[in-house]
Amino acid sequence: MPLPTIEWEGNIEGRVRLIDQTLLPAEIKYIYCEDLKSIWRAIKTLMVRGAPAIGIAAVTGVLLGIKDIRTDDTEAFFKELKNVTNYLGSSRPTAVNLFWGLSRMERVAWENRDKPVHTIKEILLREAINVQNEDKSICRQIGENGAKFIKDGDGVLTHCNAGGLATADYGTALAVMFKAKENGKKFKVYADETRPLLQGARLTTWELMHAGIDVTLICDNMAAHVMKLGKIQCVIVGADRIAANGDAANKIGTYGVSILAKEHGIPFYVAAPVSTFDLNITSGDEIPIEERSSEEVTCGFGKRTAPEGVKVFNPAFDVTPAKNITAIITEKGVIEKPSTENVQKILGK
Ligand code: MRU
Repeated sequence: MPLPTIEWEGNIEGRVRLIDQTLLPAEIKYIYCEDLKSIWRAIKTLMVRGAPAIGIAAVTGVLLGIKDIRTDDTEAFFKELKNVTNYLGSSRPTAVNLFWGLSRMERVAWENRDKPVHTIKEILLREAINVQNEDKSICRQIGENGAKFIKDGDGVLTHCNAGGLATADYGTALAVMFKAKENGKKFKVYADETRPLLQGARLTTWELMHAGIDVTLICDNMAAHVMKLGKIQCVIVGADRIAANGDAANKIGTYGVSILAKEHGIPFYVAAPVSTFDLNITSGDEIPIEERSSEEVTCGFGKRTAPEGVKVFNPAFDVTPAKNITAIITEKGVIEKPSTENVQKILGK
């Protein structure tokens, strides 16, 4: 069984338990977030990361926030709840699952506004647990829907980490690989190391090795060569936000991989839950791209690799245009040749 990435523990006065992903693969350590600030920090510093896991951090973060609202007055409660969701929403901008989780909690609270505050809190607790549990079945369904795209003998390239660590426990892009393996397929995975924070090297290879899947680590700048050698038959990645027309934001470098795949005639798949779609935006141009600190590039993992004071640009995500995506694999079905119309056909079901 995969390890649980992030979970609520206990009743409404409980806490969040999560794997500190910044320590992997050297150390598997669970940490506990007891208050709002600590979960905000865990999201910001990537102790918990990956779009669906950030969605779970959002809903459980709301529980931590409302734990400290000590009022019986509904109006005052809703004011405080808004402060909590605004604060959590300031942690990371790109993965829409964060905002999806926060809105879901706000909506459920509002639908129950005629109830006493303590009842609303209990309802929110149930809702957060539902989000956790739903994620597990959604990821398995993504695996089911996508496994057919991996054929015996294939080489599969992936970028960043869209595995169990990025979700409650099973992943999106990696779910497809886990399921293909369960179905008896024999294939190899090439994992891009994913500069600058090495989610591919530290997390994806670790997960795949634990699952007994043949994985080879490559540096990001090797992907073109590996494709040219004929070692890659498909690319499968996750996503942080998908616009209504199918443009998909994912870890920086994904766009480049999509161009390489196109050049080599290799199908490029995105695996993501419906909660990763942002139908309020018409194209990927509207996706906010997080910029992170220059130290991640100049002194990654404590070793300085560039001169002091050098200018750095460190966007954490890029957008792959829908035209470079062969299909988007969701729990509701596969969106072939993504476009506004084809996204609607599956999501509107
Ligand atoms: O900065 P991160 O590590 O949160 O970025 C994660 C990714 O880009 C993942 O590929 C994406 O969230 C999909 S997770 C199923």
